Amino acid sequence: MEQYRINGGRELHGRVPVSGAKNAALAILPATLLCEGVCRIENLPQISDVRIMLEILGMMGAKIRYLKKNTVELDTAHVRNLPAPYEMVSKLRASYYLIGTMLGRFGRSEVALPGGCDFGLRPIDQHIKGFEALGATVQIAEGGIVEAEAPHGLVGSNIYLDVVSVGATMNILLAAVRAEGLTVIENAAREPHIVDLANFLNTMGADISGAGTDNIKVRGVERLSGCTYSIIPDQIEAGTYLALGAATGGEITVTGVIPKHLESITAKLVEMGADIREEDDAVTVVRPRSRRLSRINLKTQPYPGFPTDMQPQFGVLLALADGTSILTEGVYDNRYKYVNELKRMGANATVDGRIAVFEGVERLIAAPVKAPDLRAGAALVIAALAAEGLSTINEIRYIERGYEDILNKLTDLGADIRLIVTPDDEARVLGRVN
Ligand code: EPZ
Repeated sequence: MEQYRINGGRELHGRVPVSGAKNAALAILPATLLCEGVCRIENLPQISDVRIMLEILGMMGAKIRYLKKNTVELDTAHVRNLPAPYEMVSKLRASYYLIGTMLGRFGRSEVALPGGCDFGLRPIDQHIKGFEALGATVQIAEGGIVEAEAPHGLVGSNIYLDVVSVGATMNILLAAVRAEGLTVIENAAREPHIVDLANFLNTMGADISGAGTDNIKVRGVERLSGCTYSIIPDQIEAGTYLALGAATGGEITVTGVIPKHLESITAKLVEMGADIREEDDAVTVVRPRSRRLSRINLKTQPYPGFPTDMQPQFGVLLALADGTSILTEGVYDNRYKYVNELKRMGANATVDGRIAVFEGVERLIAAPVKAPDLRAGAALVIAALAAEGLSTINEIRYIERGYEDILNKLTDLGADIRLIVTPDDEARVLGRVN
């Protein structure tokens, strides 16, 4: 069993180099299957989700070579149209991008339906709506396998998304780039990682315009070719470290970022009383310990609104802020599992559906907690670093899905955090296994 052991309560100071964006990488890697060539992907984060995606692509016949720590070369000339079974998809929800890419390359795909997850149902009806609009027939076969096929090829179409969906927008882009004619995606999601995927596809020879707006046009092309591409910095990793600085007090600079992608996050930090300094590719948060965070109301929304993937991290800030704060989760039905863990650390909060009300407390108390999912796990790391004393965090595998080199990055900021690996039998004997 692995856990983080954290001695919290100190101000943190220093600089954090931000890694490549997980949610861009998880779409760009499968997108390489749309060409029969060699792609070199740079600034690829070394996180477990990326390793799993590379493992899946390798099983489908892509030849993968790590040229450097964060640079991978993929040769997709010999990729075979193999079904993506549940045991793979259940490890990585983003495997559903294989539906769009295999449809785009082979005119057929079989991918297991991803399950729900830690925060409610996560349907893919809008993905399927897009594929059917492009002329594919889609059915859920025995065993929860999504079978999509377009024996006569995909044909461009107008698609209006009933829900602003990052995944559906990306998946439809992947299927449309080699479809015949014009595809228009209306009510498209506008996240930075969608723009990054569109830029990558255009570098391969696709013809996409409007990415980053809610109206994206794709003119189908016959072929795509290999290329070299560098992934954008991770907006959510950067935001997580800025929230950390506001929580512990001190001064933290995130480097190698695109400040514009962080605007909604930094605006809320300023509203809570932290100071923000921006440079070309760096952002600094300063919060003297003598100045307590102020209460705010916060609602998560699709980009450019406040990102849902920053909601748990800001829940910790609201738990510490002076006064009553109201947090509304505008994207998912149930993304508050971390609140019960925070309450074990002394937070005073109540959850009712998509709304959480926080009565701020002066300080959190160190305690043993466990990560219910990726961003909630990151939030608990922030809480443990802000709380005086020794906290332990279990289920840290969730955190390592999305935060490259987190132990070194935190240690470089002055955090007292260690990874403790306990053999399961010993942990069980000592009653420490959850
Ligand atoms: C992506 O998930 C991200 N994951 C999530 O990040 C992120 O929270 C989410 O976008 C929103 O920004 C990856 O990119 C791998 P959606 P995705 O489709 O694409 C509903 C993280 O922590 N919906 O934008 O699955 C859905 O239920 C992860 O990095 C439908 O109803 O999110 C949700 O309520 C967690 N039908 C809302 O739309 C559909 O067909 C937004 O989901 C698709 C989605």
